[in-house]
Amino acid sequence: MITNSIALAKQVLDREELVAVPTETVYGLAGNAFSEVAVGKIFELKQRPLFNPLIVHIRSVEFLTEVACEIPEAAYRLAEAFWPGPLTLVLQKKEGVPDIVTAGKDTVAVRIPEHPLTLSLLKQLDFPLAAPSANPFSSISPTRAEHVAAYFGNQLEIILDGGPCKRGIESTIIGFENGDPVIYRLGSLPLNEIQDVIGQIKVKNKADSVPEAPGMLSRHYAPRTKTIFTGDPINTAHLHSGKTVGFLLFDKRLESFPPEHQEVLSETGDLTEAARNLYAALHRLDKLDLELIIAERAPDTGLGKTINDKLERASAH
Ligand code: TXA
Ligand code: MG
Repeated sequence: MITNSIALAKQVLDREELVAVPTETVYGLAGNAFSEVAVGKIFELKQRPLFNPLIVHIRSVEFLTEVACEIPEAAYRLAEAFWPGPLTLVLQKKEGVPDIVTAGKDTVAVRIPEHPLTLSLLKQLDFPLAAPSANPFSSISPTRAEHVAAYFGNQLEIILDGGPCKRGIESTIIGFENGDPVIYRLGSLPLNEIQDVIGQIKVKNKADSVPEAPGMLSRHYAPRTKTIFTGDPINTAHLHSGKTVGFLLFDKRLESFPPEHQEVLSETGDLTEAARNLYAALHRLDKLDLELIIAERAPDTGLGKTINDKLERASAH
């Protein structure tokens, strides 16, 4: 059922069952983070490998010490600047957080989401919520209640509808290595805003060897339709003439192709708007049963880096 009743969502979560919840980034598939039973159901429903740890969503900074310890000063500075908001911190885990949540790691990923419905839900619960994005493993993340319903409609008692996600891309993940902050996943919070708070930061977003965060695995956020990522959509389309092609364009339509197969992320070239529209546009194109999606590279600054990173992974085969 799609509802906006926090009371209903609480009843279901108190029974160690799952609820899809809205956040400012993407919808999450949430369960009691302190219950192995509930968290087990998350992995099962998503068909997510058990080695891929979950993010724990908490209601306030004060709650941080219930799940994490040895918290660096820079983590508090980031939390103060960006929580509630699209930033996830990877910290030393406190005993009591079940191993299944952290995939046996001694660190835990934590954030405070910025959505009024989910924040008030968290404030009424006696436990934090473990929640990955509410999509089957490696498919496109949901930014609307309908996307979640299309994936898990029959298997979820409740989808809490908080409208379209205002950021539209997952949180930025930051961990600490020898005391230095490191970005593990590019996300909704742009690099420059982070650097304004803590100065230069290393980015380890690319999968070099073993991924620290499976958001780093190359094929991810992927539509079912074969997708090509390019700086030159027209030329790429000519190379594939004869195929039914859809376009994911940054700011301009292409005159010589069918308009119904084109998605423009932001007519004004606004990166925040483009990020917000990205996954919904991919969902729409993927439903058209095309032979190919051609996705255009966004300008490589600020959130454009995040958009390009997601598109690169969506097109990895
Ligand atoms: O915006 C978001 O972060 C959304 C909303 C629902 O909060 N959640 C989300 O969760 O994107 P998920 O499961 O799709 O991605 C979580 C990422 C994964 O790449 C996981 O590997 C990483 O966080 N992660 C979790 N715990 C970690 C840890 N201890 N160390 C390193 N990476 C971790
Ligand atoms: Mg995900």
